[in-house]
Amino acid sequence: MKTVIVNGSPRKGNTLTAINAYAEGAGKAQEIEVINADRLNISGCKGCGVCQCTNGCVAKDDTNTTIDKIVAADMVIFATPVYWWGMTAQLKLVIDKCYCRGVLLKGKKIGVLVVGGAATDNVEYTLIKKQFECIAAYLNWDIRFYKDYCATGRDELAGNSAAIEELKELGASME
Ligand SMILES: Cc1cc2nc3c(=O)[nH]c(=O)nc-3n(C[C@H](O)[C@H](O)[C@H](O)COP(=O)(O)O)c2cc1C
Repeated sequence: MKTVIVNGSPRKGNTLTAINAYAEGAGKAQEIEVINADRLNISGCKGCGVCQCTNGCVAKDDTNTTIDKIVAADMVIFATPVYWWGMTAQLKLVIDKCYCRGVLLKGKKIGVLVVGGAATDNVEYTLIKKQFECIAAYLNWDIRFYKDYCATGRDELAGNSAAIEELKELGASME
């Protein structure tokens, strides 16, 4: 299974820890590529409509190569820290640009990993989950998992052995 993980965090911290634990669990059963959204040059969608949801983006930046990787994947995992009760702007830039090949993105298997500083009963996790559920309903995505974790300091999630174990098992169980 070809899996693309879009990492919305700009730092080597908790989100990357979650991604790495998932990937470790998945082992060779999944061909995983991690796309670090923060290192891409992707302009905001201008809503010009030239793409007609199939033709790709007119922007001369990393949009088309990135979205084409997502189109080619069997499974797409969106991983993000919580910034201001939502996903990071870096991840949102990529998701907005999914519009340029939206028709080709239907039916994907999807996973969502979220790490925030607040406890996991905070409304922010419900908001993010709901947003992905709405996108999934629109694009006929099959959300295979949604996981949220509480961690603030850069290394905090790495010290949460229950979370790391859960993420490894998640990676191993995905097919
Ligand atoms: C700009 C910014 C905004 C943040 N906003 C929130 C927030 O609204 N809710 C929250 O729980 N944590 C918030 N945090 C904390 C991060 O979600 C938390 O530190 C997370 O572990 C960072 O993940 P990372 O290590 O992968 O970058 C914010 C952090 C930053 C830098």
